[in-house]
Amino acid sequence: MIPIKNKEGIAGMREACRVAATVLAKMRALAAPGISTYDLDQEAKKIIEGYGARSACYNYRTSRGQRPYPAYTCISVNEEVVHGIGSIKRILRPGDIVSLDVVVEFNGWIGDNATTVRIAPVDSSVDRLLQVTEAALYHGIEHAKVGNRIGDISHAIQTYVEGHGFSVVRDMVGHGVGRSMHEEPQIPNFGRKGTGEKIRPGMTLAIEPMVNMGTHRIETLADGWTIVTADGKPSAHFEHTVLTTETGPEILTIPPA
Ligand code: MF3
Ligand code: CO
Repeated sequence: MIPIKNKEGIAGMREACRVAATVLAKMRALAAPGISTYDLDQEAKKIIEGYGARSACYNYRTSRGQRPYPAYTCISVNEEVVHGIGSIKRILRPGDIVSLDVVVEFNGWIGDNATTVRIAPVDSSVDRLLQVTEAALYHGIEHAKVGNRIGDISHAIQTYVEGHGFSVVRDMVGHGVGRSMHEEPQIPNFGRKGTGEKIRPGMTLAIEPMVNMGTHRIETLADGWTIVTADGKPSAHFEHTVLTTETGPEILTIPPA
């Protein structure tokens, strides 16, 4: 069953997502040549705590056997797809791209969003990868309409990405989000129109295309978390938490004006 949020849940999600978006915007502004990904993560921790929120990533694990996630945000550079762990040894350099993923809990509700930042100047093909991934996110969001099905979102993302010569990661998916980080439904970035569960009002969905320049295949590093492309080529990631309403999808992870 896909959780449907009532008025109170929607209000809680709005606030959590606003905090998540504000933290991501501030973190993005700190991503510049010379900073280590460890320092970037530490700054994000301070910003999150400054809002009275908590990182939902820290200590997170999907299974009992898994090593708890040791950082506060996910910072993934170049061929790292998602779930990169900040390191004092990884210094951002011109030409890098860095995916920042911020998931916060605020008053018991969770907001999830991600973006990929260019450390200028980047190669034009890499720039294109980011443009296409971000546009794919918005295409997916457009299809998160009441009466559609989850597969309509998946299909929109996949056809857009593959139409531009890139590939979608298959082994990681978007998801419902609410009281916990991962709720039903799963939202793959590939799939067929008219399949999957029906979209109803009051769903909060984290839509998150992960797009690779080369092969869609991925590997996990020995740290147990960091996902990298199997061919070492770059990967990009953009994510919003979206509320489905009778009048269309509403992006919740937008900072206040
Ligand atoms: N947005 C990522 C996801 O939905 C955040 C993961 S946090 C981590 O999977 F702790 F699992 F890394
Ligand atoms: Co997510």
